[in-house]
Order: sequence, then structure tokens, then C-alpha cells
Amino acid sequence: MSKTVTPSTYVRNLSHGMHRQLADLLDPQEGWKKIAVNIMKPSGEARYSQFHIRRFEGTVQMGKSPTCELLYDWGTTNCTVQDLKDLLQKNGFSAAASLLLPAKNTENVNASTRPVSSAINAPCEMSAAEVIDTCNPHTYQSKGPEENEVDDFDDMGIGRFSFTEVKQSTNNFDIRPVSEGGNKLGEGGFGVVFKGEIKEKIVAVKKLTELVDASIQDLTCQFEQEIKIMGKCQHENLVKLLGYSKDGDQYCLIYTYMPNGSLLDRLACLNDTPPVSWVLRCNIAYGTANGINYLHENSHVHRDIKSANILLDDTLVPKISDFGLSRATGQFSKTMMTERIVGTTAYMAPEALRGEITIKSDIFSFGVVLLEIISGLAPVDENRSPSLLLDIKEEIEEEEKTIEEYTDKKMGDVEPNTLKKMYTVASQCLNQMKNRRPVITRVLQNLEDIKNLVSSS
Ligand SMILES: Nc1ncnc2c1ncn2[C@@H]1O[C@H](COP(=O)(O)OP(=O)(O)OP(=O)(O)O)[C@@H](O)[C@H]1O
Ligand SMILES: [Mg+2]
Repeated sequence: MSKTVTPSTYVRNLSHGMHRQLADLLDPQEGWKKIAVNIMKPSGEARYSQFHIRRFEGTVQMGKSPTCELLYDWGTTNCTVQDLKDLLQKNGFSAAASLLLPAKNTENVNASTRPVSSAINAPCEMSAAEVIDTCNPHTYQSKGPEENEVDDFDDMGIGRFSFTEVKQSTNNFDIRPVSEGGNKLGEGGFGVVFKGEIKEKIVAVKKLTELVDASIQDLTCQFEQEIKIMGKCQHENLVKLLGYSKDGDQYCLIYTYMPNGSLLDRLACLNDTPPVSWVLRCNIAYGTANGINYLHENSHVHRDIKSANILLDDTLVPKISDFGLSRATGQFSKTMMTERIVGTTAYMAPEALRGEITIKSDIFSFGVVLLEIISGLAPVDENRSPSLLLDIKEEIEEEEKTIEEYTDKKMGDVEPNTLKKMYTVASQCLNQMKNRRPVITRVLQNLEDIKNLVSSS
């Protein structure tokens, strides 16, 4: 990392010392908040909602600096020192602006004309080949870039399609929802998901967003990583990647279509689907833990475990999706630190919010999923108290509420004994201390016992 700070230096590459100095100027009187509310996404909307701002505020109680947390989080995008300096100046923090970039450094440099935006893709810390090496015992044979693409993916049974074919298969990416006769199944942080038909097979096509300020290299890295990881990691509880298309700067991933959508949507009974029974919920919890167990057995941290990434097939068997954000852990180092903070905050463990990557954070996120399964409540709801579902644990521990009060009333077959047992697993997963959380094999064993008890009663 270069020590010289220039206008084009990425904020994530600023030293910890610089973050601290900026924090000394921006933490008092909540100066950081003025910056946070003025950070925009490429689409022009604010990057941080009130919920995010409260999350940053909450870090003060943990003895942290909200300015540092904000810079870490925003730094996961490709924002530059010039972007930060512009914001500081605009909001009257001239001392912080000149600390960051003394006047001489800005000479002869054109001020950035692009908007302050939050591209999702940052450069990968590891090459896709390195990721695969740690994910699978079979060594990935790296060839030249032209050579390895099609052949290797073909070996894994992953097809390469032309962009035109994919476009036609989705009715020219008809953006209207499927319920209104269009092809759109949903939308996430990386793009829009469409329903399509390729070679007489119904598929789900994720068209990755064309990012305003992510370089083609960043996007390619993300794309190739997802393809290679998903190609190697195949399991009954993971979504299968069928193929991809990559024409110029347009990227698509093609997955097996999951007719029952996401667990998030089914728990919310979106589109008037019937409530999911307790028996099925227990099977879904067990199957999901089985998928996580497979990933963890392969030293693989998912990093974005959430109910929107748990998809349900025609018989409601859960399949975990989206390995694009994940990284394989090194074989020897169990924990890695990263400048990128990924995942969805409502599911994130305290150490994950600080940018640490460990399989233990997946366990915490899975704890939130178990609370969703029990309660049927959304992981975050600004109009509810507590807004974050994970905070119900504290209420229950302090005996202000009971788990029965939080049990989803839409289930007709709920059984108090197994429900309590599942809550105990959730609560263990949600331990603030990562080393006190159970490992996935134990979680799996407990959920298997619960599943067997429920199906035998
Ligand atoms: N293979 C699939 N089959 C059916 N529906 C799918 C499939 N993949 C995704 N979807 C639908 O598209 C929605 C959006 O998925 P997407 O992965 O883009 O976003 P997300 O999971 O909400 O967030 P993230 O970008 O963090 O993964 C899902 O919630 C689901 O409803
Ligand atoms: Mg997803």
C-alpha cells in the first residue's frame, strides 16, 4: 500500500492513524453524521438510512469511534480521498479536509467530477484461483486467461451462454415482476434476478449491475470468483450454478430456478403464499445448517447468511445462494481481516461489523435466521421496537418478554418444547463473544434432534 495519499487514493487504503486523526475531528458533536447523511449511492439515493446511522451511533457504547466505523463501511466501495475531501469541505470541516490532503497535493490534479457514490465492488483481496485452492483439496490448475475460461467451467458442468441467448431467454430482461407477466424475480445488492428459459429448462438469471465507478477488473474478479466457487462447492443444500454469460462488460449468472423463492418471502407470506408449518421450518433450519456445515468443512466463510439468501425448491428444501461475497479462509489462519465489510447489517456479528472474517460470524447470522423462523418477523423493521430482531434476545434474557410472545402465530402446529429448544440454539449462536458460539456441527446436531422430535410426534 502506498504511503503517499493522493486524491485518487481509496479511502479504504488510508492508514489506521489517519482514520484516528479524522475521528478526533469528526467524533465530537457528531460531525461524522453530517458526512454520513450526505453520502450517496450511484443511483442518487442516500447510502445510509436512519437505521444505519443508529448502528454507527451504537458503536460508541462499544467504545468505538463512529467516524472510523463509517470510513470502514464506506471504504468498502471505491470512494476516494477526493470524494471524502469534497464532502468534508462541503460540510465545513476544513481542518479535516486539509489534514487529509494538504493543499500541495491537490495541485495539478483535476478534482474528481464523478458523483460521490458507493460502488459495491471493491478489488478482491484474493485471486479467484487462490480462493478455489483453499475451498477444494483439488489444486486449481491455472492456465492463461483466455485458455482457462471455457474449458475449466465445462469440466465443472457449467455452461457458457451468449449474452443474446440469455437476453432472449428472459424476454429481453423484462423488468416487470413475474406476478405482472414480466420476468423479474427480485433484486439484491449485485443486480436484478430474472426468470428465464434456456434449453427448455426454467432458470434464474442474475444480471449483475453495471456499476458507475467499478472497474471492469473489479467486476471480473467478483464474477469469476462466484463462478469458480460455486462450480466447486456443490451440495444438496447449496443453489446450483448452471452457467454464465460474459460479453464485454455485461455479466450474467444462471442458477437453478427455485420455485418457492426465498425463506424471507415465504415467512412473510408474500404474494399470499400459505404460512410455513413448524415441521417444515424445522426441516428448513436443519437443511440450511447442513449447507453451512458443508461450507465450513471446506474452510469457507459465506459472509452473507440471511433468509433472502436461503432459497426453497419445489419441495421446500433449502438451498443457500450467493457465494460472490464470500472468501475461502486460509488453511492455516482461521481469521482474516479485510478492508471490505460485507453482508447485511441486521445479520452481522460485532466482529463482522469491524471487518473481521471468520466462520463464527456465519453462526451469528444463522442465529438471526433461526429467530426469523421462530417469530416470522423481519430481521429489521424501523417501525418496531426493537427494530433489530436480534435484540429480542436481550428482552427475553432480561425477562421482559418470553419466546412464546414472539412465536409466529401463523403456525398451526407449533410445539412448545421443540420451539424452546430451537430458541436455545438461536440464543447460543447470537453470543456477542465469537468464541462462545457453538460450531456448526453442534448446531446441526441440535437441529437434527429437534427435527426428529417434531417428525416423530
Ligand atoms: N435461483 C433463484 N430462483 C428463484 N428466485 C431467486 C433465485 N435467486 C434469487 N431469487 C429471488 O431474487 C431475489 C433477489 O436475489 P439477490 O440474491 O439478487 O438479492 P438478495 O439475496 O436480497 O441480496 P444479496 O444481493 O445480498 O444476495 C431473492 O430474494 C429471491 O426472491
Ligand atoms: Mg441473494
